This record gives sequence, C-alpha cells and structure tokens, in this order.
Amino acid sequence: MTAIVTLPSFLSLLFFILLLSSNPLPVSSIVCNHDDKKVLLSIKAAFSNSNHFASWTDESSCCEWSNVVCDGESGRVMELNFFDADFHGSIPDAIGDLSYIHSIVFYKLPNVVGPLPSAISKLKNLVYLAIRETNISGPVPDFLSELTALNQLDLSFNRLSGSIPASLGDLRSLTSLDLSGNQLSGTIPPSLFQKNSTTEPPSLRLAHNHLTGEIPPAFGKVGFFEIDLSQNQLTGDGSFLFGRSKPTGTIDLSRNQFEFDLTHVEFPEAMNTVKLNENKIHGSIPAQITKLGSLRSFNVSHNDLCGEIPCGGEMGRFDESCYLHNKCLCGKPLPPCK
Ligand SMILES: *[C@@H]1O[C@H](CO)[C@@H](O)[C@H](O)[C@H]1NC(C)=O
Ligand SMILES: *[C@@H]1O[C@H](CO)[C@@H](O)[C@H](O)[C@H]1NC(C)=O
Ligand SMILES: *[C@@H]1O[C@H](CO)[C@@H](O)[C@H](O)[C@H]1NC(C)=O
Repeated sequence: MTAIVTLPSFLSLLFFILLLSSNPLPVSSIVCNHDDKKVLLSIKAAFSNSNHFASWTDESSCCEWSNVVCDGESGRVMELNFFDADFHGSIPDAIGDLSYIHSIVFYKLPNVVGPLPSAISKLKNLVYLAIRETNISGPVPDFLSELTALNQLDLSFNRLSGSIPASLGDLRSLTSLDLSGNQLSGTIPPSLFQKNSTTEPPSLRLAHNHLTGEIPPAFGKVGFFEIDLSQNQLTGDGSFLFGRSKPTGTIDLSRNQFEFDLTHVEFPEAMNTVKLNENKIHGSIPAQITKLGSLRSFNVSHNDLCGEIPCGGEMGRFDESCYLHNKCLCGKPLPPCK
C-alpha cells in the first residue's frame, strides 16, 4: 500500500518539525506580531473556536500558542502545524495573510472540508505545504503555481478531483509533489519538473487516483529520486523511467495497464524498490537486477513475462507472490524451467 510506503518519510518530517517547534528560547520572551495574531484569531473562529484552540487566547502571546511557531526575533508566525484533531470547518482566506509563514501542515483532520482558499496563493515565502488526510475537496487549484518558493507540496489522501494543473510545472523549486489518494482524473501534465532550478532529484507520487493516458515522454529526462504512479489506469511505455545512471531509488508502476518490454531495461544502481505488478509487461527479467545491492522490494506478478528468473544478489529476498501469474516465468522461487 502506497500509504504505508510513504508514511515513514512523512513521519520523520513531522518529527523534524516537532524538533524545530521545541524552540530552546523561552517562548514567553518572543513578542507576537500583532497582525499575525489577528489572523490566527480569525482562523480559530473559522474552526468554530474548537477546544483544540484553548491556548489561543487574546491575553497571551501567539508565540506561546499550541501548533504555532514564531521567528524568535521578529515574532512573525513561521509555521502552523495541526495534527490529529477533530475540529470542523474550511480553511479560511485569512491564512493568506500570514505573510512570513514558510510551513503549513494540516494532517489527519477528518472534519476539515471545503476547497483550498485562493488566498493561499499570496504566501510567497511558503516552502512546505502539506494538507494530508483531511476531507478538503474541489480541484488541485491552478493558483498553487503562484507559490513561487514552494519546495514540497503534499495534498495526499484528501477528496480532490479534476485534473492535475499543468501550471504546477512553473514551480521551479519544487522537489516533492504528492497528490496520491485523491480522485484525480485526466492525464499527467508533461510540464511537471521541466523547469527545475534545484539539482535535487525530485519525487513524484500520484498513486491511487483515476489518471489515464501515457507517462509523458519528457519524464525520461527527469532523474527522479522516487516515482510512484501505482493504482491508476495508465497505459503505454514505462521503460524510459529506468536507466543505469539515474538517481532513482523507487519506481512503482503497479496496478495500471502499462505494456512494454522489460528485457532491455537497465536498472539504476541505487534502486531499492521496483513494483511492476498487475500490468501487461512482457519480455524477461534482465540479469542486471542481481547487481543491485540495495534492492529490498521487487514485484512483477500479474504480467506477461517469460523466461528464467535471474538468481543471485538480493533475489533470494522475494517469494513466489512476486512472480506469480505471468506467461511463462520459471526458476526459483517458481518451479524449475523445463
Ligand atoms: C472524510 O470524512 C469521512 C466521514 O465524513 C470519514 O469517514 C473519513 O475518514 C474522512 N477522510 C479522512 C481522510 O479523514
Ligand atoms: C534539473 O534536473 C535535471 C535532471 O533531474 C538535472 O540534470 C539538472 O541539472 C537540473 N537543472 C538544474 C538547473 O539544476
Ligand atoms: C506482489 O504483487 C501481488 C499482486 O499485486 C500481491 O498479491 C503480492 O502480495 C505482492 N507480493 C509482495 C511480497 O508484496
């Protein structure tokens, strides 16, 4: 399951944020910016003044409030981090007035609903935006492309629908885009990660949507760190995502309708996860797979593959469920070839 694979990295990020939040400075010494405080109080009101916001009182400095991190010198709000709470309501336009904020996290908030407010596009310092496992709905808005500083965008496991806006390709600093677990349809825009201004290899997760069409050929030139397109209705070739010199660790194309020949694919040397199960992939498994010292997950079951399964290297890790239901694969852990 995609959720399980991507969660550890997300949790370590949360941990990192929590570390940052445990600011060694005595928070009472930080004078909260007056304008930011007004904005936060209107966010509290938008969520019906739920008990979750009990520490958000007029009398105290907003830098002492739960879920708020201020800059120690300016008293400007830099982070807003909400996790695991049951408050109700939609994200208000007021959030767009936290002009200095660089990180916003809304995580596991089942009663946060409604669309993303367009006022979010005013946040020119926003580097990290994660609205994950909530019930926000509507499209992935075009105006997100105006968040010019954005490095990571995670809108996974919500109820977003419609197509992925091509304008997300304008986010030159973006290194991680996760739109998994929504109801997105249409094709993958070829513009994504084509204007990168960072040298960091990008991660793209679009798993578990209703995407159709082919992988944009332009993705063959992007050296992804991770690409997860599993559980969609994608078709055509996926072989060009591979390549010996790429920095790629994870390629998950499982549960689609990809149709290509695996025989001459060269796996990136750092590859640790290759999931191709439940497609229409033909040819044979390249022997080079046995040279991958970091390989931990490999699944090609439910395809049209043929020939002997290469042995050696890390191949002993994978049981027969990783090979079953192919045309004529044979050899360990399946019955011997005739
Ligand atoms: C969305 O709301 C429904 C019920 O209203 C709930 O069952 C579901 O868990 C919510 N989704 C998320 C991701 O929190
Ligand atoms: C953009 O990404 C490509 C491949 O991922 C990389 O080779 C290139 O150096 C990057 N561009 C810049 C400007 O760093
Ligand atoms: C490999 O994929 C098949 C089909 O999707 C699945 O049933 C099986 O559990 C997977 N094996 C492993 C070890 O994940």
